[in-house]
Amino acid sequence: MTEKYHPQNTIQPINFNASDFGSDFVWGTAASAFQTEGGNLIEGRSPSIWDSFMNRIGTIRNHDKADSATEFYTRYPNDLDLIRDLNFKAFRFSLSWSRILPDGTGKPNVKGIDFYNRVIDACHERGLEPWLTIYHWDLPQVLEDKGGWKTRDIVSWFSDYVRLVLESFGDRVNNWVVMNEPETYTALGYLKGDHAPGKRGLKNFLPSIHHACLSQAAGGIEIRSYNPLANIGTTFSVSSILPAGNTEEDCIAACRLDALQNRLFIEPTLGLGYPISDLPILKRMEKYIIADDESKLKFDFDFIGLQYYFRAMAAHSHFSQNHIKKVPAQKRNVALSSMGYEMYPQGLFSVLKKFNDYNGIKKLILTEVGVCVEDKLLEGGKIRDVGRINYYSKLLESALLAKQIGVPLAGIFAWSPTDNFEWSKGYSVRFGLTYVDFKNQKRYIKDSGYWFKEFLK
Ligand code: GCO
Repeated sequence: MTEKYHPQNTIQPINFNASDFGSDFVWGTAASAFQTEGGNLIEGRSPSIWDSFMNRIGTIRNHDKADSATEFYTRYPNDLDLIRDLNFKAFRFSLSWSRILPDGTGKPNVKGIDFYNRVIDACHERGLEPWLTIYHWDLPQVLEDKGGWKTRDIVSWFSDYVRLVLESFGDRVNNWVVMNEPETYTALGYLKGDHAPGKRGLKNFLPSIHHACLSQAAGGIEIRSYNPLANIGTTFSVSSILPAGNTEEDCIAACRLDALQNRLFIEPTLGLGYPISDLPILKRMEKYIIADDESKLKFDFDFIGLQYYFRAMAAHSHFSQNHIKKVPAQKRNVALSSMGYEMYPQGLFSVLKKFNDYNGIKKLILTEVGVCVEDKLLEGGKIRDVGRINYYSKLLESALLAKQIGVPLAGIFAWSPTDNFEWSKGYSVRFGLTYVDFKNQKRYIKDSGYWFKEFLK
């Protein structure tokens, strides 16, 4: 397991193509509302927790703001053309709760709903299947002010929002992603304070986990009752995890990190409960759990979306509450993405196998994969992102290997069609298949975009 990934400077040939994944395999790209839309305070949208957070000093690298982001709000026809022209057949995007319900609950904002209707229709016109993420981190600030994910009230707020979404778009949308990476937004937003709403500590984190998990299942139930034939999923961030040393203590730390990063949300969803025995600190969640909750955490999703970006290394620590210390990739002499993550595309294979070992998962979809590298806009509008191409090659090879041994992998979504606002990193890191010059919003297809176009031909 100490094997590393060696990025090459020249494009590596591959010996497979898209058709090896099967004719019904879904190939798409993915993006989210806050990272792309812009138009944050127009046509009735109210601020989300990310609007408030980014306006606080010191939260976002270079003080970048997402007020305009990539201007998807007005440029969506062009961006959807781009996605279609790169030969993708699906587009996963998220809805901004505060654009649809500026008060969080109650009266819908017709202009916000109209916007998403236009985007959905424009997808269909281009032969792109819309995959809608209902919650991708941008909680209306008005709801955070009432307790946000920390209060159990959010389960009914969320259910009402989902119902409105279904009534508004359910006639033209069949593929639903209830949530994007609940572990990430609860841990970064309510434990570490690095993401919105910037809260810290277990007293914020633990109730948020439980209410996010209950809401995730409640959202699934709403969709199923609206449309029994809908394709319903939710997404989890996953990493491959390595112990720092061969000691028992480091192995226990790796197991704890695995429970936290990979198992925390999938296991209660499958009816296995929270992974308390491997992460004892979760015992303190008991005070937020009431009778019957175990069954309310369960939902029989049609697919589980996985989002794989990096490998992590865990060591034992006497100092942290969890006894886990993450060994930063910078200290491990490994290939780094421009975000400082370890690039380890081949780790996807073991992650897929691991999820396949759970009983009760029907299908897996990679709802996000991708990498940020140092993109340079060269003369003539070229971006020679060889590092991204080779990363995707290796990643797709690992996905195919997993599929060949029987993992029910049914689709892959590349993150992302365009560069966008990367949360606390602002515009300093780029994940897109298309380069965005944020000075003038011009788009330039990167070599990786052309590579996908050829691969999917
Ligand atoms: C996430 C989110 C995306 C990110 C992407 C790159 O996984 O963090 O779903 O919003 O932009 O993952 O970091």
